[in-house]
Amino acid sequence: MRRCVVVFLLVGFAYAAPASSTLIANVPGRTTVNLDGAWRAIVDPFGVGRAAGFFRNEKPRSKGDRVEYSFDASPVLNVPGDWNTQRESLLFYEGPVWYRREFSFHKPANTRVFVYFGSANYRSTVYLNGEKLGEHEGGFTAFNFEVTSTLRDGDNFLIVEVSNVRRADAVPALNFDWWSYGGITRDVMLVEVPTVFVQDYSVQLARGSQSEIAGWLQLNGAQSPTKITLEIPEAGVHETITTDGVGRASIHVKAKLDLWSPEHPKLYDVVLTSGADTIHDQIGFRTIEVEGNRILLNGKEIFLRGISMHEEAPFREGRAFSPEDAQTLLGWVKDLGCNFVRFAHYPHNENEIRLADRMGLMVWSEIPVYWDIDWSNPATLANAEAQLRDEIARDHNRAAIILWSMSNETPVKPERLTFLKQLAVDARELDSTRLITSAMNHVENTGPDERTISDPLGEVLDVLGLNEYLGWYEGSREDADKLQWKSTWNKPLIVSEFGGGAVYGRHGDADEIWTEEYQDNLYQHQLGMIERMPNLAGLTPWVLMDFRAPARMLPGVQDYHNRKGLISNRGQRKLAFYTLQKFYKKLADAGK
Ligand code: GCU
Repeated sequence: MRRCVVVFLLVGFAYAAPASSTLIANVPGRTTVNLDGAWRAIVDPFGVGRAAGFFRNEKPRSKGDRVEYSFDASPVLNVPGDWNTQRESLLFYEGPVWYRREFSFHKPANTRVFVYFGSANYRSTVYLNGEKLGEHEGGFTAFNFEVTSTLRDGDNFLIVEVSNVRRADAVPALNFDWWSYGGITRDVMLVEVPTVFVQDYSVQLARGSQSEIAGWLQLNGAQSPTKITLEIPEAGVHETITTDGVGRASIHVKAKLDLWSPEHPKLYDVVLTSGADTIHDQIGFRTIEVEGNRILLNGKEIFLRGISMHEEAPFREGRAFSPEDAQTLLGWVKDLGCNFVRFAHYPHNENEIRLADRMGLMVWSEIPVYWDIDWSNPATLANAEAQLRDEIARDHNRAAIILWSMSNETPVKPERLTFLKQLAVDARELDSTRLITSAMNHVENTGPDERTISDPLGEVLDVLGLNEYLGWYEGSREDADKLQWKSTWNKPLIVSEFGGGAVYGRHGDADEIWTEEYQDNLYQHQLGMIERMPNLAGLTPWVLMDFRAPARMLPGVQDYHNRKGLISNRGQRKLAFYTLQKFYKKLADAGK
């Protein structure tokens, strides 16, 4: 088994490791009050709200009192949900929107309360009862603030300023091929926990072991060494451990476990108790490793039959968030014959991740370090690291996730390599049990019909991701029939993207672009070529479903949609869907 230890020296700017995550783990397993629903919302195109004090939720106190905004009189926006697809007038809106949610609350004794956001795109500032709780940057990671002392017994008002304004130093930066859906895009909840509670934990198999659970647990609020118990009743595990003085404990337990796999997605009820806090989680146990150019799941070679997908809602469009959205999308992934899915290009919602856990779908999860960003800016690095840290903090107990992806299609240049190497170091420090990858598109023409995968980033990855668009953005579809691929690295390769556009229901001969026949023909040539690639361990064609994209304007064809889906945004399957389905059936029948 290959082991690699990587040490990188960062040059060019002072580097400060990211603070540990303050995220409360496993919120679905906690006592919560759901604040979803219709929130009053003020659209603030010129960003005057802060200066005007919108966060104070003022109301005229007398008939002469001049207050030039009113949440009470403002229309509502649904939470969770992007604002772009809720109102025609907001489809292209990029700017700040102020949300208000009034609620009454009675604080139970010996209880601390946090307000938790599943996500809000892109930058949020949160206020409770006029007091600023904090800010969050990143459109796809969860965040929470403690409100124990800010909450009132009775009426409260929560105000959130959310802005989806793109910036050159942000992550992602100014240019990306998906709709910049703005808003509070996932659930909002009040989370009630005891004074001392289990903040976070990792309960996974030790790397390379199928019988030793290794992990840790972090209490919040512990002032002295504290007893905790770890139970896995079905596996006869009942372990009592004592934390150190700040509530941290390492976990090492031998256990005989039924391993999680696509064929057998076994999840165990895991119970962690400490003082007044008891938390249940459904956790699968599996090992994932690389050996030479092979990926091993539970010690056996695995082939990843996958598809790439965006977190775009089927049929209604907009940001997907609900268990029903997840069921529809991952149901289609299963219908294709997949055992693997690439959640592009940002951490998807927890409903999808937990459903993948239950369905036995292995997952590639990614942070939106996408195309070109401000590589030499320390704030941009800290932002990317915080998104990586919070992605891992939310999902590190999910057996389904086997790969953390650092980036997508980033240009080969020294400052980019330094940046991504640091992220890979961070990811391994945050989670040593999973594999590190990136989707690369840098290849060299090393011969008339030869391409070599030679991106220097390959050095720090466990698994290489390759995006290639032969027959669409370059060359002809037939070129695939004679092209030989080489790789500088003897590492597993996933073809993380290939594809072409088609309008569902548009038919013609295979040479007529935008027809289903053209797209299907491209798949035929591509799949033949891909089967001949070196170190091939899997593929995730681009893309499961057509999705909204701001740079795709061709009227009557794209209409602001990327049409490379195998399924239309109305759920209609194109010819190429069946070609890939047949290809995966052939592989599965061959035990791959
Ligand atoms: C890129 C990119 C995707 C994009 C796709 C396309 O490779 O990673 O985000 O949508 O190509 O051009 O359709």
